[in-house]
Amino acid sequence: MNKELIYLDNNATTQIDQRVLDAMLPYLTTNFANANSTHQFGVGAYNAVKEARKQVAEIIGAETNEIVFTSGATEAINLAIKGVAESYSDKGKHIITVETEHSAVLDTCKFLETKGFEVTYLPVQKNGLIDLDLFKSQLREDTILVSVMMVNNETGVIQPIKELAELTHGVEAIFMTDATQAVGKLELNVDELGIDLLCFSGHKIYAPKGVGALYVRQRANRIKIPALLHGGGHERGLRSGTLNVPGIVALGKACELAQKELEENLKQIKELRDYLEIQLLTIENSFVNGDTKNRLYNVTNICFVGADSEAVIMGLSNPENNLPLIAVSNGSACTSTSIDPSHVLIAMGLDENHAFNSIRFSLGKYNTKEELNIVINQVKTVVAGLRAMIF
Ligand SMILES: Cc1ncc(COP(=O)(O)O)c(C=O)c1O
Repeated sequence: MNKELIYLDNNATTQIDQRVLDAMLPYLTTNFANANSTHQFGVGAYNAVKEARKQVAEIIGAETNEIVFTSGATEAINLAIKGVAESYSDKGKHIITVETEHSAVLDTCKFLETKGFEVTYLPVQKNGLIDLDLFKSQLREDTILVSVMMVNNETGVIQPIKELAELTHGVEAIFMTDATQAVGKLELNVDELGIDLLCFSGHKIYAPKGVGALYVRQRANRIKIPALLHGGGHERGLRSGTLNVPGIVALGKACELAQKELEENLKQIKELRDYLEIQLLTIENSFVNGDTKNRLYNVTNICFVGADSEAVIMGLSNPENNLPLIAVSNGSACTSTSIDPSHVLIAMGLDENHAFNSIRFSLGKYNTKEELNIVINQVKTVVAGLRAMIF
């Protein structure tokens, strides 16, 4: 790509950090050994995985034997939810999740419905938050699992995880959280929050795609789940397959950096996000989707009434003008025959038109104020142009 790129789609994926790349590269080239080989060459790879497991465990306050490396959050979510369904069905067949979850959770739950499980999809309030009284009323004796994401990928809304976990344990069910948008961006500790299962992914925190992790509580109230993939018995039998040593090393390094630099990143990104949001809200007929208090600092999801988000996305990345390409997104889901509005915004009570007019700006540690000034001008121009075509 020759054109300059202004990347504001960091919730979709992030640019790999050079230090992460430097850490993983030797395991693709000179140190390419299999971490399970018993010769000295293999021991080097084994030790690198061991170190990465420590770094990953540390960022969420877990023990190293509670971490299972996977190919990403989707696999971790499947392993966790299907695993609980299989292991705990003697207690019951009821699962609770939320309408605004990522499709990795929703579709896994839908699959389980075809296997005789009953799933409650909790609605959310207009601000995207769960109503705790409503949640309490849905818990049952036969509830085996509650799965609630920590931070929403489209709006940044943060759910009250500690309270939800406590209530879940009140009926002796398991509490799982998809923390893909939270790990590395928020301080979090699985023990303090009462989390039994937690999933996340490397490519949201400046590591490459294709690596992630599942935390499975092994201390008090040990969680027992079976494997999805069978084979060589890797990852304590939970995830067979030759370990992705370079990916795992990268994930470890990304966690180490994220933990060390969390405060600094938070301050810098929040300041930029707030600046962007204030400036964009000067566009008339625009508003923020989602609670602005309980929200992660790197996202703003804004509805520009009357401006189709697909057209805005295309207008901001028009290869024919001399401006930088600006990468933003919406939560629409494209199928071969239609485009559906974001299920998250619809669950929050937005009508279809407003959902189709909403854009997610997700910032990362490489963004600058100069970039945002270009974005602000461009969004104003594109939105005004689209509105002029309609009105
Ligand atoms: C909240 C959330 N959960 C799960 C996923 C899936 O992650 P992965 O791409 O690692 O499978 C994503 C990525 O888009 C996400 O944002």
